[in-house]
Amino acid sequence: MSLAPCHVQKDMPTPKLTAKNVSIEYHIARTREQFLALDDVSLQVDDGEFVSLLGPSGCGKTTFLNAIDGLTPIARGEIRIDGKAVTQPGKDRAMVFQSPALLPWRTVMGNVIYGLELQGTRDAGAQNRAREFIKLVGLAGFEERFPNELSGGMQQRVNLARALATNPDILLLDEPFANLDALTREFMQAELLRIWSAARKTALFVTHNITEAIYLSDRVAVFTARPGKIKSVVPINLPRPRPLKIKRQVEFLKYEDELWGMIEEEASKTGMFLQATERA
Ligand SMILES: Nc1ncnc2c1ncn2[C@@H]1O[C@H](COP(=O)(O)OP(=O)(O)OP(=O)(O)O)[C@@H](O)[C@H]1O
Ligand SMILES: [Mg+2]
Repeated sequence: MSLAPCHVQKDMPTPKLTAKNVSIEYHIARTREQFLALDDVSLQVDDGEFVSLLGPSGCGKTTFLNAIDGLTPIARGEIRIDGKAVTQPGKDRAMVFQSPALLPWRTVMGNVIYGLELQGTRDAGAQNRAREFIKLVGLAGFEERFPNELSGGMQQRVNLARALATNPDILLLDEPFANLDALTREFMQAELLRIWSAARKTALFVTHNITEAIYLSDRVAVFTARPGKIKSVVPINLPRPRPLKIKRQVEFLKYEDELWGMIEEEASKTGMFLQATERA
């Protein structure tokens, strides 16, 4: 019997991000305990891909994002970006947090330029670049406003512009819309997709919100309850561009049911079911 020739695929592109068997522990000084927050997580993300991390509260999503950002050390396994091990924060990544954390004494322009200043860019080009991204996030004309003169959604746009202006390869977004009202959140999701398709960055987006995860993503990685493992990675085969009304289509609702089932199973293990998930 002859065996089929082993087909070795050459020239496969290196994934943008590879997390391999990543475990993360926190040391609790008071009790001298090692607390396992993330357990054996493996995930690959391609260049330009949009992947959401979905899971119950406390399962380690922020911990994982911080490790990718190089802020939290990993106990076991490895995280690589373009094949290079992550050991510290770098210009190739930018984090967008839940609350905008803008400098109140700086204007919109000043806040966006601040991101560039932190990278050591202070030339005239910085001003032009900041202006370009302020326009991209739909805030042209608001360059000289101060954060307290903006709505929550506008502040979050400034936050996004600041992250994008630094030209990262990977955008790390940790529940960036969690503090917004439901309607603004919907529009910000659509805005984020528009900006993402224009900027073509690799994006990792943490959320509790199942609908948001489906609407935005190429794939949704569902985490188990703590210590977080990846329970399943669900590809979202919905066409792009995605209008908001896609959320009412049957295919969308099927994804919602599938993910809801997974999350329900995990959240019920934690006894924190109500806080842990939102359906819409
Ligand atoms: N600095 C820390 N020291 C000790 N334990 C921590 C620390 N940060 C997080 N943890 C613990 O690690 C686990 C994961 O926390 P993490 O913030 O990553 O969860 P999460 O999935 O982002 O939760 P949420 O959805 O509520 O934001 C939690 O049990 C938390 O108590
Ligand atoms: Mg978190």
